[in-house]
Amino acid sequence: MTELQDLAVPVITIDGGGGTGKGSVSKNVSEFLGFHCLDTGVIFRVITFIKICRNVTDKRGIIKIAQEVSNNPVLVRNTIHLDETLVGNAIRTPIIDKNVSEVAKIPEVRNEIRKRIVDLRQYPGLVAEGRDMSHVFPTDFMYFLYADPRVVATRRVIQNQRREIFLSYDEVLKDILDRDHEDKNRKVSPLKPHEGALIIDTSYISKEAVAEIILDDYRNQINKARV
Ligand code: DC
Repeated sequence: MTELQDLAVPVITIDGGGGTGKGSVSKNVSEFLGFHCLDTGVIFRVITFIKICRNVTDKRGIIKIAQEVSNNPVLVRNTIHLDETLVGNAIRTPIIDKNVSEVAKIPEVRNEIRKRIVDLRQYPGLVAEGRDMSHVFPTDFMYFLYADPRVVATRRVIQNQRREIFLSYDEVLKDILDRDHEDKNRKVSPLKPHEGALIIDTSYISKEAVAEIILDDYRNQINKARV
C-alpha cells in the first residue's frame, strides 16, 4: 500500500490513564464500525510479563524481549498466547501494573513496537488504543479518556475481587496514582492529551455512553468533511 492510500484508511485513536475504560470502549467502537482494534497496552504488558517470568532486569534484556514480541504477529494482533499458554488474565495482575511503566518508558522498546504496528493501518479502518497513538497514526479522530482516580480505584477493587485478588482500596488507589504519575512525567510519550483530542470524563457514564460520544463525533466530522 502506498503512503497516500495508507493515509486514506481511517484511524480512531483512544488514549487515557489506566482504568478509564479505554479497552471496552475501543472494542465497542471498533465492533460498531467493523474496524480492526489494536490494544497497545497489551503489548507492553506481555513484554513485562515475560521480563518477570525470565527474571530479566537489564535494559538490553528488556529490549530483546520487545524485539521478540514485536516479531510475533500473533501477539501484535492481540491474541495473547505465549508458547501455547493463554496469558489473558496474567497480564492484568497487580505485579504487571506495578512494573509495566518501567518497561514502557524505554525508548528502544517503544521504537520496536512502533515499527511493527504502523502496518496495522488497514482497511476498513483501525481503532488504536494507547499512549502516543495519535503520533504513530496521524488522524483527526483523537479521543482522550479521563476518570477520577477514586472511581478507577473502586472499579479496580471490584475487578480484582472477581479474579480472586484481594487488595485494599487504599493500596489500589496508591498504585493507580503512582502509575499515572510515572506515565505523566516520563520523557518519552508522556500521558497527556494530544492537541486537538476530544477529552471525555468517563467517571460517571457507562462505557456504552462513552462509545456513543466517540461515534457521534466521528460521524459528525465525516459528515462535515463531505459538505
Ligand atoms: O493501557 P494499559 O493500562 O493496558 O497500559 C499498560 C501500560 O503501558 C501503562 O503504563 C501505559 C503503557 N502504555 C504506553 O506507554 N504506550 C502505549 N501505547 C500503551 C500503553
